[in-house]
Amino acid sequence: MINSIKMKRIPPYLFSDLDRIKKTYKGTLLDFGVGDPIDPPPETLLNQLKNLVNESQIHTYPNYDGEVYLKDIIIEWYNERFDVRLERDEIAILIGSKEGISHFIWAFTEKNDKCGYVDPSYPVYLNNLLMTQAKPYPIKLVPEKEFLFNIENIPEIKYLILNYPSNPTGGVADYDFYERLVNWAIKNDTFLVNDNCYSEIYTDLKPPSILSVKNAKKVAIEFHSFSKMLNITGWRLGFVVGNKNVINEFITFKKNIDSGPFKLLQMAISKVFLNIINDFTLSMRKKYIERGKKLTRFINKIGLNSKLPKGTFYIWTNVNKDDRLFVKELIEKWGILATPGQGFGKYGKDFIRFSLTVDDNTIESLSERLK
Ligand SMILES: Cc1ncc(COP(=O)(O)O)c(C=O)c1O
Repeated sequence: MINSIKMKRIPPYLFSDLDRIKKTYKGTLLDFGVGDPIDPPPETLLNQLKNLVNESQIHTYPNYDGEVYLKDIIIEWYNERFDVRLERDEIAILIGSKEGISHFIWAFTEKNDKCGYVDPSYPVYLNNLLMTQAKPYPIKLVPEKEFLFNIENIPEIKYLILNYPSNPTGGVADYDFYERLVNWAIKNDTFLVNDNCYSEIYTDLKPPSILSVKNAKKVAIEFHSFSKMLNITGWRLGFVVGNKNVINEFITFKKNIDSGPFKLLQMAISKVFLNIINDFTLSMRKKYIERGKKLTRFINKIGLNSKLPKGTFYIWTNVNKDDRLFVKELIEKWGILATPGQGFGKYGKDFIRFSLTVDDNTIESLSERLK
């Protein structure tokens, strides 16, 4: 028998807990737990996939840092969408942003490094920091500040992982916030790791890229993902852009671990992305807003106070009591599953998260539950 001390440092994976609850529930549970789009991907993308499957050498090992045809599409998109100019060597294609973020942490963290991460947040940040024996420093997302954080109070840290549009809070950073943060990072000789994988899911204002700030590339990289933009979470395809030297070292690290994402996926996306992305994400945003309106109506009717998020497909609601207890009550009383906020960090306490990646039947059933 062998043992892993590393594994003892991390709590059980948040969504495994929810899976257990789902399995044991008797009745029809309306599941607003996991954020995994079940709406279909764009049809033209699926057609490309079928067409390209017989392409010569599509099944061989991909380039470690990604195929140039996909990098060139990302360059065009970042230019148009974010007003950010990129070079090919400022991009690495990833097997999903989860892979990228966790491997970034492994590549750039030594034991006892003090590293910041926003809290509440995607649990992958904290759990990988714990496994690498870093000293994780949680930076509170402040509800009264629309889930931005106080830049002035951050102590000396090696790097800071942040995420806007924010899972789970739905907060969105604007250009001014990023500008202050980049200036702070330059002044304090620290590094910024922005997770922008929800950039195309917003209610009103388009979320910017941190790299649109002058000099940001000196101190920042930004993770991104096709998962949520195109409803293809299972394909495992993301990318990271920004500081050339960091990207280069990161690719060296990854060369020793994986061999890049399947070329078929990279090619299919590169052929259609620029033609479909605007219309497709617009249609998904409309769906999320419609669902969000119905869900917030329900949440408010059961005595809480919620509103549409600025970004992401999550609704983050203060329940004014222990969130785990509240989630249990929500299941028992209404047959509805949401995620307890503490699963996203200590500052998630007393909040719960609903995901809008559900089918229309689930949304329509909400009004039935109130009768
Ligand atoms: C904030 C955040 N970052 C990254 C990811 C991982 O996405 P990907 O499918 O690109 O690995 C998720 C997935 O839920 C997420 O919520």
